[in-house]
Amino acid sequence: MAVATATKSANDGPDTKHNIEAIRQGFYDRIAKKDMAPLWKVMGSVVTKEPVTRCQPHVWHYDDVKSLVLESGGLITAEEAQRRVLVLENPALHGESKATNTLFAGIQMILPNEVAPAHRHVSSAIRFVLDGEGAYTAVEGEKSYMSRGDFVITANWAPHDHGNTSDKPMLWLDVLDVPAVNFFETSFAEDFDSPTQATTRQDGDSLSFYASGVLPDGATTINRTPVINYTYARTRPIVERRMQAGDIDKSHGARVRYANPINGGPVLPTMGANLAMLPKGFKGAPYRSTDGTIFVCAEGEGSTNVDGELLQWGPNDVFVVPSWKRYFHTAAKQSVLFSISDRPMQEALGIWREDR
Ligand SMILES: [Fe+2]
Repeated sequence: MAVATATKSANDGPDTKHNIEAIRQGFYDRIAKKDMAPLWKVMGSVVTKEPVTRCQPHVWHYDDVKSLVLESGGLITAEEAQRRVLVLENPALHGESKATNTLFAGIQMILPNEVAPAHRHVSSAIRFVLDGEGAYTAVEGEKSYMSRGDFVITANWAPHDHGNTSDKPMLWLDVLDVPAVNFFETSFAEDFDSPTQATTRQDGDSLSFYASGVLPDGATTINRTPVINYTYARTRPIVERRMQAGDIDKSHGARVRYANPINGGPVLPTMGANLAMLPKGFKGAPYRSTDGTIFVCAEGEGSTNVDGELLQWGPNDVFVVPSWKRYFHTAAKQSVLFSISDRPMQEALGIWREDR
């Protein structure tokens, strides 16, 4: 009926354009009441020509972060909080607990003699240790004592707890795939009756058994690494050696990818990580990719130019480069950058792209 009217109006006189617009709007109003909408009105924003990110580039400087996290230690205990974490919120996504659209980032602190009780969840977590020495993460029976620069993994549904038997606070960066899991509406979590789990393996067993060029007899392929802690003591000399050998990527520097030693794949199906050494004076070639990336400066000093915005960084500063923003690193001193992103998830779906 509406179409017949439109045809009649269109042939009727000088107000044709006005009439058809009014008739269309009337149609849109009517279908909206039936929870429908015309795709042709939103096509450009639904199927964009290039990635459009909601995130902003941003750097969190450790001087600010550390003093505020220490202050939170006087406000709440780790046990009371379950996890005493200050969320690093992307400035464009306040209130959403996101550093990128798919990744959560936060700074966690455990004070001496505290325990962060055992729990597990579908979201996978990684930790990159920033400060302190001698706190542990226990995962699936292995109690791994952590040092600065260690990269510790808690995979999907793995029970984990933290404790600090040292006499200093310990702080680390937590990154979780929580926003991605919640996007799929697949979050489960549970607490355990006992705050700590039983230790069934020696500290370092998983690194020794799986990441030494041999594998336990009968080890089978799994989609996430069996290694609990990729220690800085083992990984840093490798990037240094690559740099000395001249294996320096023009954008990323002397970089290695943390790998699942069973199949060479990423450490987790949802998140992948790298460690890179940049020689003093390095100026990277501009690069962009579709995986929004969280970086941590482990050593050194420099800056990252993200689409013209300059992020200055030094030790323990955390910064984020959103999806498809062109960026390049400049190193004022020899520097080491840790980075983590959702690239494995995108690659599994066939949607990851890069441009260099
Ligand atoms: Fe957790």
